[in-house]
Amino acid sequence: LLTQVRHQYRRVLVVVEGVYSMDGDIADLPALVEVKRRHGALLMVDEAHSIGTIGATGGGIGEYHGVDRGDVDLWAGTLSKALAACGGYVAGAHRVVEYLRYTAPGFVYSAGLTPADTAASLAALRLLRAEPERVARLAANASLFARLAREAGLDIGTSHDTPVVPCIVGDSVKTLRLAQALFREGISVNPILHPAVPEEMARLRFFVTRDHTPEQIRRTVGTLARELRRLDAADAADAAGTGRSSDAAPAAA
Ligand SMILES: Cc1ncc(COP(=O)(O)O)c(C=O)c1O
Repeated sequence: LLTQVRHQYRRVLVVVEGVYSMDGDIADLPALVEVKRRHGALLMVDEAHSIGTIGATGGGIGEYHGVDRGDVDLWAGTLSKALAACGGYVAGAHRVVEYLRYTAPGFVYSAGLTPADTAASLAALRLLRAEPERVARLAANASLFARLAREAGLDIGTSHDTPVVPCIVGDSVKTLRLAQALFREGISVNPILHPAVPEEMARLRFFVTRDHTPEQIRRTVGTLARELRRLDAADAADAAGTGRSSDAAPAAA
């Protein structure tokens, strides 16, 4: 794309996510740094789902790939996920940050972070630094979930090394039914439907946490595989004209 359009613009900003929130895959940051250099573009990384979750100490995608942080022009992130509060941040070279301080409308015209949110995020960062084993445990839980899901024949797409693990169902209605069936079993998972993703990519999106136990993960994958098989069988029966409903159980409250 840059080869085709770069010359039409004075400046180009390439914006990527650290961990992609729908697929749980990780941007190839070293390759992106090389591409932005080759085309004289700027690079921005949104670390909403990568800060605190990947990299040996939860330092995000820069730590995961061992990339010089100065090679990325803008690092952005939210405090609302791993950092346990609300608000966001932008980091970069001093002069870029100075420029944003005086020109970014969201910064100039909005109230600043609340002291409570700031303190909560600081506490989360300090905890991450003091107890990096939390990140290691998160990685182990995520990899257990992904391995068991693959072994059970579930389609988790391109998810790897991240706590975002989808189960691609490929049909919005079936995805909703599956989420309800799991809810009845005490498992809370959000359905992601069209238009957030294409219809044939409708999915359940699991967020694995450091506090999940291996037993909970095993039970969740087992229940997921069983309920998906049940819905597939009901669909097949419907298609064969037996008239069996694919969702006989009552809806979750
Ligand atoms: C990629 C990405 N960036 C930024 C945000 C912003 O999060 P918030 O509005 O909670 O700060 C989100 C929220 O889901 C996100 O997915």
